[in-house]
Order: sequence, then structure tokens, then C-alpha cells
Amino acid sequence: MKPPISSSYSILLRKTHLSPFLFTLLAFIIFFTALYTNDDLNCFFGQPLHYFKPDQFKSTPEKDINKVPFAIGSIEGECDVFSGKWVRDGSIRPLYEESECPYIQPQLTCQAQGRPDKEYQSWRWQPHGCSLPSFNATFMLEKLRGKRMMFVGDSLNRGQYVSMVCLLHRIIPESAKTMQTFESLTVFRAEEYNATIEFYWAPFLLESNSDNAVIHRVPDRIIRQGSINTHGRHWKGADIIVFNSYLWWMTGTKLKILQGAFDEERKEIVEMETEDAYRMAMTSMVNWIHNNVNPQKTRVFFTSMSPYHEKSSEWGGEPNGNCYNQTTPIEDPTYWGIGSRRSIMQVIREEFSKSKVPITFLNITQLSEYRKDAHTSIYKKQWNPLTPQQLANPTSYADCVHWCLPGLQDTWNELLFSKLFYL
Ligand SMILES: *[C@@H]1O[C@H](CO)[C@@H](O)[C@H](O)[C@H]1NC(C)=O
Ligand SMILES: *[C@@H]1O[C@H](CO)[C@@H](O)[C@H](O)[C@H]1NC(C)=O
Ligand SMILES: *[C@@H]1O[C@H](CO)[C@@H](O)[C@H](O)[C@H]1NC(C)=O
Ligand SMILES: *[C@@H]1O[C@H](CO)[C@@H](O)[C@H](O)[C@H]1NC(C)=O
Repeated sequence: MKPPISSSYSILLRKTHLSPFLFTLLAFIIFFTALYTNDDLNCFFGQPLHYFKPDQFKSTPEKDINKVPFAIGSIEGECDVFSGKWVRDGSIRPLYEESECPYIQPQLTCQAQGRPDKEYQSWRWQPHGCSLPSFNATFMLEKLRGKRMMFVGDSLNRGQYVSMVCLLHRIIPESAKTMQTFESLTVFRAEEYNATIEFYWAPFLLESNSDNAVIHRVPDRIIRQGSINTHGRHWKGADIIVFNSYLWWMTGTKLKILQGAFDEERKEIVEMETEDAYRMAMTSMVNWIHNNVNPQKTRVFFTSMSPYHEKSSEWGGEPNGNCYNQTTPIEDPTYWGIGSRRSIMQVIREEFSKSKVPITFLNITQLSEYRKDAHTSIYKKQWNPLTPQQLANPTSYADCVHWCLPGLQDTWNELLFSKLFYL
């Protein structure tokens, strides 16, 4: 946490000799400047300051429910649905059974891959100030009639996409639904509704050398500046778009940015700080939305960073552990892992506030931080055989990034459901 008054201010205070009145005035000015620029100040007051609605960047145009596509009501009060706690409730969770949903890829079917415990499926998110509307698949499919819903991003967004398909597919007969993949695009089609729910692989949103939906594990990632339309042309016409992009940017402190085209012989590559590179992508995305989205027809969502649990020392667990063998959520309400960079949150906040088209922010980071128990861990399909050394030490190959389905990501979709229909 940064100090509330930045060091440049303290230098100013030390060097100048001011009268008590001027000093008080100056202190006030500094305090309010800090208030509006430094969100970390929230920590001092124990709860967020409501100088803007934390989960909604553009509250004004969304106030009038009749003008917002898909909206039918509003959530009681000014409830922040992203602030709350996990409640164990096995009677109404999970929302579907793993074996009932054939669309879950074997990297996420933890029970089928041998996970011994099931508790991770039975937690319900309870916001502090209100209750979430229950997810109603019949209702949602009715609203999706003749529409295209599209998820755009990385494998974590793919998980949320599959969760959405699992939540909806049950009420559609076998003969009236299909799922097909064409390179970067996966399309689930509900025939009788003339509706599609799609996923488009674009881990950086911009064009990159990691865009192959199957073979994308390249050691040296390169992102092409100003290339949003390469992928963006496939997103046009969607009625609901859910973006995400985070994990692929976290390769260190710098990223390689290509300023020309990939097929040019002499490539112009510059190194950029992660935050600057990420800001460039967010600016491109906001511009793309501005140029291609009609806010009278389309809703745009952005899912915040999905946290990971690679070091149990972070939550006070045993040394050298990770998410492996974790079966309960973290109880400390202030827990925040080092992997979720607040500087990136700040970039998102700044860039989205410039958007003329409302972007609904699904701020799932904090609530997911608690869920060290919800990762796939070692219970996923392994593409390469494990070595005896790995087998002897399961922690070494546990996946503490992705999430079992059913599980945490169903809650992300319950939050999406509530933000789509209830403002
Ligand atoms: C998201 O929520 C976290 C804590 O719940 C908060 O610190 C952060 O500022 C929020 N982000 C935005 C962009 O509102
Ligand atoms: C779900 O939505 C359908 C269609 O709008 C409605 O008829 C039904 O009562 C809803 N179910 C629940 C449990 O609210
Ligand atoms: C089906 O939905 C698409 C939009 O996704 C629309 O263009 C088309 O007219 C619809 N077809 C019918 C028969 O309703
Ligand atoms: C798993 O955790 C339990 C305590 O929660 C501990 O007793 C057990 O030794 C752990 N197993 C492994 C293989 O780490």
C-alpha cells in the first residue's frame, strides 16, 4: 500500500516554511487531490469511498433502464455485488453437475480427473448489501433469441464461456444445439432460439504471435501495436460482448511490441513496460468499442483479472505449497495476492473512464482471490506424460491458474446475469 501523500508532496512540505493557515489549506488541497487520484486510500477508511460507483464506470447513461439493452430492473439500493463473502450452501450448489455438461474440456473436469473432494462446488457468493438474482436459464435464453453473445479473450474467459454454455444448455433438447470450432472461434448454437454463444481466442485482444488457438505457447511473446481490427472484425454485430485480458501480459516487467506488420522482413520491435503496453491495448479496445458498438443495441462487459494461487506462503499456509490440496477458501476479507497488480486495475479504471460507450466492469478479482480451493490443481488432463519426479511431488505440476467447472466461474456468470438484466 502506498502512503496517502506521495513523496513529492512530503518533499514540498519539508522545503517550504508556511504559515499555519496556509499549511492547513495546502494540506486540504493535497488530501483531496490524493482522494481523487489514489484509490489505495480506501484502505484507511476500511471501506470504499463512494466517489464513483466502483463497479460501474458510466452510471449516468445506464440509469434509465428503458434505454439500456437487456435491462429489466435494478438491484436494490446501490449494492456493490462484487463485495461480499462466500457462504457454503450445498443444497442449491452446484448449479449443474460436471457429468451433465459435455462441453467442459478435460482440463477443467476435475471430478472426472480424480479430484477427491467436492466442497469447492458448494459455495455461493453473498454480496454484503443485497442478494443476487437467481440465474434463470429459461429467461436468459428467451432474451438471447435471435442474438449473438460473444466472449473474447484467453483461456480464463474460455472457462467463463463454457460455464455459461453449461448453465444454459440443459433446457435445449439434444437435437437443437451444436458446438463447433473454426480456428479461433468456437460457436455454440441454440437452433430453436436462433441464438449463438461464441468464444473468440485473442489473449492480448491485439494481434500477437500467440494467436493460434491451439499452438500458442511461444517463449517470446510479441504484440502488434494498433492491430485491434485484426481480431475485431470477427466481433462486429455481437449483441453482448464479454472481454478479458490479463494473464498473458504478466511475463515480467516488459513486453515486446511490434510496430510494423508480422510479415515485414525487418521487424521494428520496442520493449514497453507492462502497464504501458496494457494501456495501449485498453485504449485500442475502447476505440474499437466506440467505432463498432451501438450502445442502443449492444452491451459490453470486461472481466477483471483472474487471480492465481501459486504460493501458499501468501495466505499464511505451509511453506513451498500452492493451490494443491487446498479445500477451503481464504477467510481473510482483505486478502489480495501479489499476482493481481493494482497498477493494472488503475490502468483499466483510467482508460474505461474515457469510454463514451458504457463498459460494465465485472470486478471478480477480490471474490476470486479467496478461492484457493477452486483451481484445477492436478485434476486436469495432462497432455504430456508426467515424470516420476513430478508424480512424487504433485505441487510441482498443479495448475493454480484455471478453475474447475462447475465452480467459481459459474458465480462470474451469475454476476454477469445480474449486471445484464438488473443494473
Ligand atoms: C475492484 O475491486 C477491488 C476490491 O474489491 C478494488 O480495489 C478495485 O479498485 C476495483 N476496481 C475498479 C476498477 O473499480
Ligand atoms: C424463469 O424465467 C421464466 C421465463 O421468463 C419464468 O416463466 C419463470 O417463472 C422463471 N423462473 C423462476 C424460478 O424465476
Ligand atoms: C437469426 O439471428 C440473426 C442474428 O444473430 C439475424 O440476423 C437473423 O435474421 C435471425 N434469423 C431469424 C430467422 O430470425
Ligand atoms: C493435505 O492437507 C492436509 C491438511 O489440510 C494435510 O494433513 C495433508 O498432509 C496434506 N496432504 C498433502 C499430500 O500435502
